[in-house]
Amino acid sequence: MIGTASARNHAFVQAMGAEPVAYGEGLAERVRALAPGGVSAVADFVGGQLEATLAVLAPGGRNVSVADPSVARHGGHWIWVRPDGAKLAELAAVVDRGALTVEVAETFPLDATDRAFTASRTGHVRGKLVIVP
Ligand SMILES: NC(=O)c1ccc[n+]([C@@H]2O[C@H](COP(=O)([O-])OP(=O)(O)OC[C@H]3O[C@@H](n4cnc5c(N)ncnc54)[C@H](OP(=O)(O)O)[C@@H]3O)[C@@H](O)[C@H]2O)c1
Repeated sequence: MIGTASARNHAFVQAMGAEPVAYGEGLAERVRALAPGGVSAVADFVGGQLEATLAVLAPGGRNVSVADPSVARHGGHWIWVRPDGAKLAELAAVVDRGALTVEVAETFPLDATDRAFTASRTGHVRGKLVIVP
């Protein structure tokens, strides 16, 4: 498992069991150095990564993006999360079992939603912003 992040988050990525690499210029080369035969799957949570994705995927590899619909024209899947109470309950049970942890970056009261939005717009939040009613 290889995970992209800025340097300040590399130890965090490593603690989750992945090999951290910096994103930006030269990303595909850095991934190729770690996986010379290519990687079997790419999950893009940022967008604008199609070129790097295709450069690192092994033949027959799979790719998915939550932020770039154009991947669908290049053999990938674009997915969109939909509100689903039943699925959320399943996830909550997995959290209760301790098999899934959720990093909470910051918690806001409802009347400070504007501050949560501003934090989100930085593009560098590590984990979830929680709004408490
Ligand atoms: N399809 C869906 O259902 C769905 C759901 C939620 C969000 N989204 C979309 O997903 C995207 C991400 O949203 P988000 O709120 O989860 O995260 P975000 O706050 O935009 O990004 C958070 C993470 O992305 C890393 N990052 C920033 N620029 C990067 C780059 N160029 N390459 C690789 N990593 C980079 C940051 O790492 P560092 O802090 O270490 O730089 C940070 O950990 C948005 O476009 C959003 O609209 C889609």
